[in-house]
Amino acid sequence: MVTTFAEQGADGDPNAEQSDYWNASPAAESWTSLHEDIDRQLAPLSAAAIAALAPQAGERILDVGCGCGDTTLQLAARVAPGGTVVGLDISAPMLAVARRRAAAERVAGVSFIEADAQTRAIDRGAFDAVFSRFGVMFFADPVAAFANLRAALRPGGRLTFLCWRKPTDNPCLMAPYRAAVDLFPVPPEKADPLAPGPFAFADPERVEGILANAGFTDIALTPHDEPIGGHAPDRALHLALQIGPLARLLREQPSVTAQVTEAVRDVLAAHTRPDGVYLGSGTWVVTAQG
Ligand SMILES: C[S@@+](CC[C@H](N)C(=O)[O-])C[C@H]1O[C@@H](n2cnc3c(N)ncnc32)[C@H](O)[C@@H]1O
Repeated sequence: MVTTFAEQGADGDPNAEQSDYWNASPAAESWTSLHEDIDRQLAPLSAAAIAALAPQAGERILDVGCGCGDTTLQLAARVAPGGTVVGLDISAPMLAVARRRAAAERVAGVSFIEADAQTRAIDRGAFDAVFSRFGVMFFADPVAAFANLRAALRPGGRLTFLCWRKPTDNPCLMAPYRAAVDLFPVPPEKADPLAPGPFAFADPERVEGILANAGFTDIALTPHDEPIGGHAPDRALHLALQIGPLARLLREQPSVTAQVTEAVRDVLAAHTRPDGVYLGSGTWVVTAQG
């Protein structure tokens, strides 16, 4: 079956802010230029989520918020022969990287769509499974978005995604930030924990409610805890300054870059093993039936 994605009526763009962030901000540039480092760091978490999905040869999978395509390509290998994987993302530059990788690696059965997962109509029942690695916490209206994704599943199709638990469970994202936050002349504003962003799905009851309201059943959230990293100290430092909450703050207040760099170097040194820098991560592997 050929999967088509029809444009919906233009009622304004509810995810315009996220669209700008993932298309035109320095963060989008960092994600595209550092995708190999990010993929390496996230590899054990991808493996856990893909194991929970248990893709089968011949299946049709939608990879939501696929970014630079790492999991899309991994899933394609798992559904071969005969399967297909569609990577869907709102970010043109990240999809450009994904398309380049798929072409360079000559991966069969993969295509990519630039679209908003919340608002773009997707062929009803076209997929056996919907998957995401950290790509579903950014919707302005999560219930509408998951209802839209559920409609893309065949009856009995399954949903599996990975999302971050709370900040204190994730030194991999927060240790550099915490080490440096007091050095900034203007303290950061307190973030709304429910606003679209990496920690929007930290609360398991909220996630269950969103999925149930979108029509999913058999909802389960399994905690997964694992140190991640594996980069040499200088590379880990570069990543911590370019990606994540600290990077965002540094872009707003670059005057303290030198002091921040030293503070982060110190905290990473305390987490350096012979095989690289490792910091704890805490995620939910979320599964449900459509
Ligand atoms: C944290 S990144 C994760 C990217 C990729 N899954 C990975 O693990 O490397 C979040 C991704 O979600 C995408 N995204 C955010 N809002 C979206 C939306 N409404 N529809 C589709 N993709 C979206 C972003 O463009 C970005 O690629």
